[in-house]
Amino acid sequence: MTRAKSYQAPRGTVDILPEEQPYWRYVEQAAAAVSRRYGYRRIDTPAFEETGLFTRSVGEGTDIVDKEMYTFDDKGGKSLTLRPEGTASVCRAYIQHGMANLVQPVRLYYLASIFRYERPQAGRFREHHQFGCEAIGDADPALDAEVIDLAWRFYHDLGLRGLALHLNSIGCRQCRPAYLEALKAYYKKHVNELCPDCRVRLVSNPLRLLDCKQPSCQPLADAAPTGIGYLCEPCAGHFAALERHLGLLNIPYATNHRMVRGFDYYTRTVFEILPPDAGGQASLGGGGRYDDLIEALGGKPAPAIGFAAGIERIILNLKKAEVGVPALPALQVFIACLGEAARDEAVRLAARLRQSGTGVVTATGGKSLKAQLRQANSLGARFAVILGEDEVRAGTATLRDMAGASQKTVPLDELPRRLAD
Ligand code: HAM
Repeated sequence: MTRAKSYQAPRGTVDILPEEQPYWRYVEQAAAAVSRRYGYRRIDTPAFEETGLFTRSVGEGTDIVDKEMYTFDDKGGKSLTLRPEGTASVCRAYIQHGMANLVQPVRLYYLASIFRYERPQAGRFREHHQFGCEAIGDADPALDAEVIDLAWRFYHDLGLRGLALHLNSIGCRQCRPAYLEALKAYYKKHVNELCPDCRVRLVSNPLRLLDCKQPSCQPLADAAPTGIGYLCEPCAGHFAALERHLGLLNIPYATNHRMVRGFDYYTRTVFEILPPDAGGQASLGGGGRYDDLIEALGGKPAPAIGFAAGIERIILNLKKAEVGVPALPALQVFIACLGEAARDEAVRLAARLRQSGTGVVTATGGKSLKAQLRQANSLGARFAVILGEDEVRAGTATLRDMAGASQKTVPLDELPRRLAD
């Protein structure tokens, strides 16, 4: 008989196997703990939304909307999209559930899978996971500093060191048009030196000229007019206040006028956190203000700021820096048994132990005692309970401490108490 076709996980996706889970629990627990310390409450939104939510918020003309969304029609003919980021969904939920009526700002966090049809490479996946937080309903620069501080603390708590914080302001509806004009005027003078993509950007999305990765465009982008130089008075004041707050918090940062981020919803503050040996695609997290987004999605105007961190990239960096993560709780008991009566007793004993909260695996398949103990060992069990015909008749079991390899005979009735954690 020919073997049936076998399948691989889709390109750009990975299975998170049991061996990897300690890293995931470690990062998720750090995310939950830092969120609690800053008063952020968890929200979970659906993995897919109406397509229009993302085209309207992330913006047509961005790579994400134009090239990277997993969009499909459902059986009812409605266009849906797997979320390519988390902010739009949280804003949709904020509006839908009337959170504008709560005390502002509303602080929310999420752990969510994110889908982008990107070219897979190290640290870049088609399904990745983010820890994100959003603070909605307040324009105070202290809130920008709080979100950056939360992010900074989070990486520190995880044990990552030597990270860099890049900061920029891209202004608001009032001042950005003049900046974009200045950028266009500058780039038009150099149009012959631009890469083909940048020639398109010059017309479609001039801000993105600044983060072109082509070597030939680097000197031009470095010498381009800076957003900070074109901020209106309120935006300049906001940026100065943020800088002052970061000083109060002792958070080191570099202003980077070329960091503009790939979403149309940003206003004013944008920031990214980079690992020590940052390459083009390496950012560990990023965020910014989006003061107009809630209104653009049909809500009452509510200024907001948020941030998201990529969990896969964090884990890559934890491994690179050899940060040890706590092991997950080991299996408590393996029950080995020999003979029919012992097998029946094993079923009863496993049920009793589990009811009292002990983790139990019982032997299956009639293997030899040696093979069963090997299995107990490979499962990392702390104890093996060995049941043979004689023991069952006497109402006892052999209790073996797997680490010390010592063993003793114990009455069956005493086992639940002895094995309780
Ligand atoms: P983002 O910069 O697109 O921002 O994504 C946040 C983080 O997710 C990145 O810094 C990176 O660590 C990780 N990431 C992004 N794409 C991939 C990928 N293809 N593979 C692996 N990791 C990836 C946002 O998504 C915004 N929603 C953040 C935000 C929240 N802004 C305001 N609030």
